[in-house]
This record gives sequence, structure tokens and C-alpha cells, in this order.
Amino acid sequence: EKDGYAHFMLKEIHEQPRAIKDTLSGRIAADGGSITLHEINIPEAQLPDINKIFITACGTAYHAGLVGKHIIESLARIPVEVDIASEFRYRNPLLDRHSLVIVVSQSGETADTLAALREARRKGARVLAVTNVVDSSVAREADDVLYTWAGPEIAVASTKAYTTQLVAMYLIGLYLAQGRGTIKPEELKGIITGLRELPDKVNAILKDSHGIEAFVRQYRDCADVFFIGRGLDYAVAMEGSLKLKEISYIHAEAYAAGELKHGTLALIVQDVLVIALNTQVTLFDKMLSNIKEVKARDATVLAVAMRGLEEVAKEADHVMYVPDTHQVLAPVLAVIPLQLLAYHMAVARGCDVDQPRNLAKSVTVE
Ligand code: M6R
Repeated sequence: EKDGYAHFMLKEIHEQPRAIKDTLSGRIAADGGSITLHEINIPEAQLPDINKIFITACGTAYHAGLVGKHIIESLARIPVEVDIASEFRYRNPLLDRHSLVIVVSQSGETADTLAALREARRKGARVLAVTNVVDSSVAREADDVLYTWAGPEIAVASTKAYTTQLVAMYLIGLYLAQGRGTIKPEELKGIITGLRELPDKVNAILKDSHGIEAFVRQYRDCADVFFIGRGLDYAVAMEGSLKLKEISYIHAEAYAAGELKHGTLALIVQDVLVIALNTQVTLFDKMLSNIKEVKARDATVLAVAMRGLEEVAKEADHVMYVPDTHQVLAPVLAVIPLQLLAYHMAVARGCDVDQPRNLAKSVTVE
């Protein structure tokens, strides 16, 4: 059932082009000019009444929520708070019937996420679930459900669930934006075109990933890895860092690149590996200064950069490129090399990739 792949994780990484396509399928109007989410039953007339959105989830799903916040705020201009579910449920959040709570869960059975959903409904908020499992607890208890069509995810480390959760965030963000009139038709069309191109672009990254194995041979014994990025790249850095520590057991941390000099720079010394994400064109100059900052402390820098930002090669020791796309869509592409890096690191270090120590696929205890 691994289809010839050595591990479920590798199989699931390679299923992403199909999973993304399936998650988009039937949700884009035939003319490519609008989003149709038949699953969401919020009457269009009520969309302007939503004055606050909360996204709550755990682990990788929480990281998808962080991307969701950027997207919804920038496209639909609604304020969004993102919380880890185990924090949200205990902080007495300020919810009412004008709040929309989006819960994100691959399994739909995570105890803290389910408890957050129940708390939100008790307070009168409307709950929209983004989940991968049909008829899961989260799906049954939410007011509306938007399924990610990733198919069964077996490996403990989440990959195709994450990229399809990102797609769900784009769909929700664009849907709200078109309903509220906060996006111009040309921009909407442009992002929709970009969404449709993602499967082929993910495929291109997967086909051209040999560089990652060579890189891993050189750095498999590294002890500390820092993932840095700005804006959406910071959210992706958090996911890359979680993936690496979860399956390869290497100490990894994610930092907002601009925050380094407020403390963490003290840890940047020789033999530390810094993975710098560069997909946000508008933040590129700032990222270049951050790369210079860590290079000056003798760290080794691997840049994951979007095509068009080749100037990064002047500063970084190694560069892996992902195809050019609309900058809001870049997380879907940037995470792929990070998933492969974590995977190959884990294999090179002899770790149990699909069943990492101390972890379970579905966390049904609090
Ligand atoms: O099933 P869920 O999406 O609710 O699971 C949430 C987390 O437990 C999960 O994403 C976890 O962080 C993954 N193992 C990360 O790869």
C-alpha cells in the first residue's frame, strides 16, 4: 500500500499534486473568476455581519491557520486571531454570534480542537470545520464543513494534509473577499489562476529534488537548525521546523527573521545551520540583511527561494529554488523542500520516519 515508496511519508509527499487538485475541484466557477463553496451555508447577505474570525487548531493544522490569518486579513479585511486549541479553550475568548470560528484538523478527532469547537458553539459563534476525515467528530459537530480531499494520511508527520489545509484557507479567504467586495475581479482571477497552477509546480519541485539528498549527506550530523522567515515565510518556517524535529530529532527552532537580534542571535555560531525562506518579494531586502547577519556569525545558510530572487545566491551557501507564483500562494511551494529535507534527514539518521518516538497520529487525549 506504499505504492513502491519506502515510507508512507514519502508517498504522501508525492501525492500532494493530486491532493491539491482534488481540494480545488468543484470549488472554482467554470470561468475561473470566482469561488463556489456549496458546503458553506452562511447566506451571502450575512457575510458582512462577520466582524471577527478565530482560527484554532494544533500542530501542523495550527501552522496552516497562521497562513490563513494572513490570507483572510489581506484579502477579506476581517481581523483574525489564531490560537493553539489547548490555549484557546482556557482563555475565555471574546466570542459572540458575529464571530466565525474556523477549526482545522486533519483527523477531526484531536481532543483539544474538539473541545475548542464545543466552547465556541456554547458561546454562540458559528463554527466552520476544515477537516480531512468525512464524518469525523469535528465534522459532525461544526455548523459548516469544508473537506480537504487529501485522502488518508498514515504517516505521523503531516504533509499532504497541510498543503490541502492551505488550499482550504485560500478558498475561504477568496470566498469571503468576493462576498464582501474587498477584492478586485482581476486580482481574484489572478490568484485563482495561480491556485490552479500549484499542482504542476509542486510536481516540478518533487521531480527536481536530488539536491536535497546531496545536502543531507553533508549536514546529517548537524545539532541545531534555525528556520527564519518574514511574513508568510515565518509561518512556513514554523512548519519546517516542526517537521524536522518531529521525525529526525534534530533540535530546530523557527524565528521571525527580524526578531533574531532581540536575543536568538546569541546562539548563531559556527556549525549552526540556518534555513532562510525567501519567497516574499516585498520583504526580500530585509531577508537579505538577516542572512548577512547570520553569515557574519559563521552559520551555514541554506536559502529556500522563489525563482526571480536569485540575488540570494550571493549571500547564502546553498540555494534551493521553487517556481515563481503569486506571493500569497508561495507557502504551498516553499514547504515542499522542507518536507523532503526532514524526510531525508530522518532516513539518513536511521529514524523511524512514519512512527516517530513518543508521538501518535491522532491525539485524542488532552
Ligand atoms: O489531526 P489534527 O490535524 O487535528 O492533528 C493536529 C496535530 O496533532 C498534527 O498536525 C501534528 O502536529 C503532526 N504530527 C505534525 O506533523
